[in-house]
Parts: sequence; structure tokens; C-alpha cells
Amino acid sequence: PLAQVGVIGLAVMGSNLARNFASRGHTVAVYNRTVAKTETFSADFGQDGTFVAAPTLEEFVAALERPRKVIIMVQAGAGTDAVIEQLIPLLEQDDIVVDGGNAHYEDTRRREAALREVGLHFVGAGISGGEEGALLGPSIMPGGSPESYAALGPLLEDISAKVDGEPCCAYMGTDGAGHFVKMVHNGIEYADMQFIAEAYDILTAAGMTAREISDVFRQWNIGDLDSYLIEITSEVLDQEVDGTPLVEVIMDQAEQKGTGRWTVQIALELGVPVNTIAESVFARSTSGHSALREASQGLTGPDRTISVDDRTALVDAVRAALWSSKVVAYAQGLDQIRTASAQYGWDVNISEVARIWRGGCIIRAKLLERIRQEYAGANLATLLAAPSVAADLGNSQDAWRHVVAVATGAGVPAPGFSAALAYYDTVRSERLPASLVQGLRDFFGAHTYQRIDKPGTFHTLWSGDRSEVEI
Ligand code: 6PG
Repeated sequence: PLAQVGVIGLAVMGSNLARNFASRGHTVAVYNRTVAKTETFSADFGQDGTFVAAPTLEEFVAALERPRKVIIMVQAGAGTDAVIEQLIPLLEQDDIVVDGGNAHYEDTRRREAALREVGLHFVGAGISGGEEGALLGPSIMPGGSPESYAALGPLLEDISAKVDGEPCCAYMGTDGAGHFVKMVHNGIEYADMQFIAEAYDILTAAGMTAREISDVFRQWNIGDLDSYLIEITSEVLDQEVDGTPLVEVIMDQAEQKGTGRWTVQIALELGVPVNTIAESVFARSTSGHSALREASQGLTGPDRTISVDDRTALVDAVRAALWSSKVVAYAQGLDQIRTASAQYGWDVNISEVARIWRGGCIIRAKLLERIRQEYAGANLATLLAAPSVAADLGNSQDAWRHVVAVATGAGVPAPGFSAALAYYDTVRSERLPASLVQGLRDFFGAHTYQRIDKPGTFHTLWSGDRSEVEI
């Protein structure tokens, strides 16, 4: 029989996706540039479903029913372009090529346009959930043409995670929309992890052991903070090697493959403030900047000890700081998606984004159901203004401020918590000191300003008689 879908690239993500399709009764064609890998795949998993293991790309393409659905799971960048180039002459009108990697959305826009020119569909699909998600049910964020989703969507929905019976897969919008949403997912993932790390750091400074903090996270996972990352934090903190907590022997230099950095770069271009995500990327950079850290060892300051009378109260305050900061990071990421969507004409449905992030993906969290509901009926400019969210931020902010103050006083850096709080206070301010910045710009560069009391554009003759002229 012909295969319903094909997967190119049998590293762990591609291999697991192929197995996922097969486990749901689909016939799957598989191909890998190095044939030995295809043979190993067949030997290891050939019995688990119906696979067509193709030694050549020609045989792979011939094994697929039309319109063909080809999922590329190779190294992002040049690797993807090389595969696409080899595929194009072998494919026919209306066939669908899917890039399931973490591609840059501008690359996806370029590839989509190029394939459209030759009568093919190109779908940039964000796939989240790591190796286990790929195998058992990821969250899938496809872009591309609506017609391609009509043919491809049911297959992707079939292998995706399910929450309340609903698939964690939905059409995000044309060309690069899917990869854009996935990129922001990763930006939020960076922020989520940075907040978690700060919570751990603060509780450690307050004298708690890794095991005690592990228990705290296990408790937190029952309430509002219920999420995959909180759950696995509890597990990582509980892990020991030779009687020492693993977290205490892991080198403290966080790496990154680039999606968080992209999120911030593009946010800068779009003019969308995502300071929590930026601080999270910079926190990783700082951790890995050995020369800077070594040269700074002699700097003085408090000794990172937080003295507490009431540990339970501190734990609860840190929980509030974590929850509030997390809401801010989501608000920033969703603002970025909303802004890009308007700029590129994607018409991304934020409620749907929240819905498909509820399961399968790395940032899956209880909070997302609430975000889904808040955006369902309303076109919110910011999540912070959603009635239930605003009320809860109001209730938790004393604790949030307390944690930032206590950490700062003790010399424990909390760039994520602080950035989130600064953002909260900035956006809610009726008036900002940007007025002075404008005044200074006008002083040294005649950059002009506008006034609150009358229309028009003005300049003060700073080096003259200091009278004001209308431009
Ligand atoms: C996911 C993850 C996945 C990967 C990140 C890690 O959604 O399944 O986000 O895409 O784990 O790319 O990124 P860093 O290596 O940059 O931390």
C-alpha cells in the first residue's frame, strides 16, 4: 500500500514522529541520507507498524500517496535547504513539504514562497514536546496555506497530544506563522526556566536544601503553577549523585541553541518589549561568560544569605513571584505574536495558540486554559488586562515586590522576577519619564517632541533664546 506520510531524517525527533504516525495505524515512508540509519530504524522499530524504508529519495517519493505529505526532520538551516532542493524535481503539483524543525520564520517565508512558485505547498510546523512528545503526542503549530492544512491537518491532529479530547494542533496562519509561534513558545520556555531557577536560588539562599526545594515544587505543581516544567524541576532537584544533589555538581553555564535569542532579536525589530525573555537569554549568556565572571569575583556585596523567621511565608511569596512573573512572560510573548500577526497578515488566533499549548509542549501549564478562555471572547491588547488575571496580579503583588526586595537586599540576582515587576509597573503607569528622554533628544539632536496640551510637533531653541517653535 502507498504511505499516507513520509519522514525524512531519522535522528531521534524524526524517528519518533515516524513511530508516532505508525502507532496510529498510518503507513509511513522513511528516508535518511545515511542508509545505515534507515536500516537501524527498520531493525529497531520495523515491527511496531507499517513502514516503507526507502534507500533512495526517489523510492521514498514513489512510496507516497498523493498529494504527498513529506515531513523534513533534519538539522535546521542548510540541511533543510539541501533536502528541499533534492525533493523539488521529484514532487508533483499540490504535494506538501513540511519542515518540522526549529526553523527561523523568515527562512520559512522564503521557502514557502519558492515552493508556491513551482506549485508545491510548504508548511513550517513548530513541533514541541521533546523526544517523548514526538513519540507520544507533541503540540504542533503549522503554518502554510489553508489548503495545505485541509489535507495535512487531520494527520497532524491525529498524532498530536490531546487535552479534553481536543488535539493540540491547529492552523496558525500563512507562511511563517507556525514557526513564529513556536519560536515565541521557546522564548517563553526560556523565561519560565529562568524564573524557576531564580526561585530555587532564593530558597537556597534562605537555607533550604535541594531536596526541600524539590518538595516545594512538588507542592506548587498541585496549584496554580501546575505545569510540566514545575513538575520536572521537582524531579531534577531530587536527583543525587554519590549522595550530593545533582544540581550542585552540574556546571553553572546554561547553553542555548538560538530560538530564545531569535525571539528577542525579532521583538527588538517589531518594537515589542519582551524584557523577561531578554533577561532570560542574557542570564544564560552571563552564566557562560567566564572571563566576565572571573574578573568580577572580587566585587563586594551582601553574602547571598536570606535570613527568614517564617520559611512558609517566604515559600509562599516566592510562589507568588513565580506565578506573576510567568503571567508577564506569557503576556509579552503573546503581545509579540499579536504584533507580528498584524504585520504579516497571519490573523493568528491567540486563544487557539493557548489551547494547543495546553498539552504536549514544554510550556504546557494549567494557566494556559485560563489564557484560552480569556482570549476566546475578547481581542485583548495584553493578557495582563484580562479581568481575572489583573485581579490575581493585584493580589499577589505585595509578595512579588517583597521577594524582589529581599533578593536584592541579600545580593541574590533575580533578573527575571525584577524585569517582570518593572514591566508590570511600567505598563500600568499613567505617565512615564519618557518625557524627559524626549526633552534630552530635542536638546542635543533637535529630535522634536509632542505636547500633551496641544497638537503639533515642537522644538525648543536650546542653544538660542530657549523659546519653543512649532515644526
Ligand atoms: C520544545 C523545545 C525544543 C528544544 C529547544 C531547546 O519545544 O520541544 O523547545 O525545541 O528543547 O530548542 O532550546 P535551547 O537549546 O536553546 O535551550
